[in-house]
Amino acid sequence: MYRTVTCGELRIENAGQHVVLAGWVQKSRKLGAMTFIDLRDRYGITQLVVSAGASEELQAQANSLGREYVIQVEGTVLERQSKNSKIPTGDIEIELQSINILNKSVTPPFTIEEVSDGGEDLRAKYRYLDLRRGPLQRALKLRHRMAHEIRNYLDSKGFLEIETPYLIKSTPEGARDFVVPSRMNPGEFYALPQSPQTFKQLLMVAGYDRYFQIVRCFRDEDLRADRQPEFTQIDCEMSFVEQEDVLETFEGMMRQLFKNVLDIDIPNPLRRMSWYDAMDNYGSDKPDVRFGMEIHEITSLAQGHGFSLFDSVPYVGAIAVEGCAEYTRKQLDELTEWVKRPQVGAKGLIYIKVGAEGVKSSVDKYFSPEQVKAIADAAGAKTGDLVLILCGAKRKTQTQLGVLRIEMGNRLGLRDPKVFAPLWIVDFPLLEWDDETNRFYAMHHPFTAPKPEHMDWFYSDKKEDLERVCANAYDFVLNGTELGGGSIRIHNADLQKRMFEVLGISKEDAEYKFGFIINAFKFGAPPHGGLAFGFDRVCALFGGQETIRDYIAFPKNNMGRDVMIDSPSLIDQSQMDELYLQSTAKHE
Ligand code: AMO
Repeated sequence: MYRTVTCGELRIENAGQHVVLAGWVQKSRKLGAMTFIDLRDRYGITQLVVSAGASEELQAQANSLGREYVIQVEGTVLERQSKNSKIPTGDIEIELQSINILNKSVTPPFTIEEVSDGGEDLRAKYRYLDLRRGPLQRALKLRHRMAHEIRNYLDSKGFLEIETPYLIKSTPEGARDFVVPSRMNPGEFYALPQSPQTFKQLLMVAGYDRYFQIVRCFRDEDLRADRQPEFTQIDCEMSFVEQEDVLETFEGMMRQLFKNVLDIDIPNPLRRMSWYDAMDNYGSDKPDVRFGMEIHEITSLAQGHGFSLFDSVPYVGAIAVEGCAEYTRKQLDELTEWVKRPQVGAKGLIYIKVGAEGVKSSVDKYFSPEQVKAIADAAGAKTGDLVLILCGAKRKTQTQLGVLRIEMGNRLGLRDPKVFAPLWIVDFPLLEWDDETNRFYAMHHPFTAPKPEHMDWFYSDKKEDLERVCANAYDFVLNGTELGGGSIRIHNADLQKRMFEVLGISKEDAEYKFGFIINAFKFGAPPHGGLAFGFDRVCALFGGQETIRDYIAFPKNNMGRDVMIDSPSLIDQSQMDELYLQSTAKHE
């Protein structure tokens, strides 16, 4: 038997017991004639001690141990002289009788402790060593626990877990596809699913009225902290449901997760906000409602005073930043530069300081103190606050104010990762116009149904009508992150054809790409709807992080590379030939 106990389980009650442990040497240190060793496994760390009275052989063996050696030890549990309250096994140590070196290790490239001295790239290259560290082990344990809770909940509600294929035909979800060449079908390609969207709808046609899957999805898009090229969804679909049924079911799932995993009660029912309110008041379709600092439109108060910047635009908006009226010239200049960065894209920043002795602004030349005060009041500012103003096209300016709001929230420490403010965003527009390509895109995806009461607009030829069409689409938002989204679907072949027409997809193209689903809808498709949560994101936020990388055992870096296995990589010419591929890329 390699071990009788793990490195995480011994307590003071075990004193006197004879035990066998196995694990990795985290560190060993000599103190006089004694040697102390920290032994680690995934359950914890136990201190081992070779006492001054131990045999010379044992002492020599203890002193020969290097970091990350794998050893098996035998000894007696003793109460520690100096206890360590930071670890659960901190009251005891093991006085060793024998050490058996199971495997040696070369010196690891970084320290494998709670906080490592290794940089991100180095740790990514040796991910299997990084994964030995406590924070990553806790992240993966949390992920396991979450998956377990989700399966339990959905099973209890009658959902069936059904797998769908990975080698499929492109499903448009707004990103590029990863494609796989087919050897047996020369010149043809599979696409890896961006989500199982069409398959889950086909499962509804097939009568499996409650489906779920914890499933890998693939999207070739620019990466960010909360995006990976392959990620996992909790993908769900239900038949004979309306929006209310879907929201209730998945609010229930999130409620159970919060309760069972974090012991947190979230409000019942959960807050709901329309997409329009989210954009107007938070400048984002994924508002962080842990703090206020809402956006206020001040267009009518700002215009007509001869300040051409305000007079020449359709929208002027402001936020009031609490307690920042004392900002210095230097701080305001820095903030102005910050909003001009391409990531924010504002042209400049106007401010009002609301001090005890009156207001002071960067546009005092054009406005009387009363007028400035009226703007500050409209922005919701109190004495001591700093009002920040941006102007331009409405949605663009609101979005910029939204980014600024989050930045100020960060700077003021208003975004505590241990505070959770979940909500639903509802009533999304169905379509989004793009000036560059001069066409509509589906805001969620092309299978989302227009609201029945907006059907006349949906069949209208006028752009303004189509822009007004809303969908029964919804997003689950937590702390400024979109955790999930879904919709009630189109289940009628004619309506689906109209959708493709509105999106400028020709009849032939629709037939070629989506003939299978249009056809399936002719065979009695039930009314249906569903949603998908980003599982990596749910885990990360539950763990108090915005970056999903640590919640994935083997993630990619922000160039989409796995630096541990060094992929993507070139393939042999023979493999290329077999797949009928030629590359035009130049490699040195
Ligand atoms: P959507 O595209 O909104 O909807 O995706 C659902 C959720 O998946 C997560 N997500 C990602 N997580 C990590 N990395 C990525 N690159 C990434 N992309 C998306 C997000 C998002 O909310 N088929 C629809 C769902 C439906 O309508 O039922 C879909 O995929 O958390």
